[in-house]
Amino acid sequence: MSKRIGILIGSLRKDSFNKKFAENIVILLDKRYNYEFITIGDLPLYNEDIDQTTPPTSYINFRNRIASFDAFLLFTPEYNRSIPAVLKNALDVGSRPYGQSKWDGKPAAVVSVSPGNISGFGANHHLRQCLTFLNMPTLQQPEMYIGNVAQLLNDNGQITSDRTANLCQKFVAAYESWIEKF
Ligand code: FNR
Repeated sequence: MSKRIGILIGSLRKDSFNKKFAENIVILLDKRYNYEFITIGDLPLYNEDIDQTTPPTSYINFRNRIASFDAFLLFTPEYNRSIPAVLKNALDVGSRPYGQSKWDGKPAAVVSVSPGNISGFGANHHLRQCLTFLNMPTLQQPEMYIGNVAQLLNDNGQITSDRTANLCQKFVAAYESWIEKF
């Protein structure tokens, strides 16, 4: 059966560079995979009290949706050298109730995208730390630190750099091999 890949974008911005970069990556995925972008901006901030008494419908729907995927691809901006709260909140919501994490055992890969020079390195590794605890085996190589992204995309959001396009090809090939191991 063809695997389902969930795409998470840690930015809610309409013109998000992460979203644009993700769109360049997903079209490289082999046609045997089904991928879907997962909405995370409608999830209320996680509150264990509410979750234990009256879990919001948005939490329940999100957890069911996460459970329906076989693998994940996460694109993150860097906010103050870490991941945006909206992405951390989504990881937290999907990880509860305790012992029923919907992320458990599902393979993943991380791409950090930034207009800055440091390429979202801090966010990339903070995200990897979360995924380690969530027991999501995460692709190690090639590392995807995408810096100075504004110079890599044209007005239509397409990658213009041959070097970056080549890296994306290698990344997708490695990701496909990786998720087939699980
Ligand atoms: C940023 N930005 C940023 N960039 C970076 O490389 N390192 C950082 O630590 C931060 N910190 C930061 C904090 C906050 C609160 C904001 C709003 C922004 C800039 C960030 O990379 C830029 O806004 C990107 O365009 C965000 O990604 P999207 O929305 O384009 O995908």
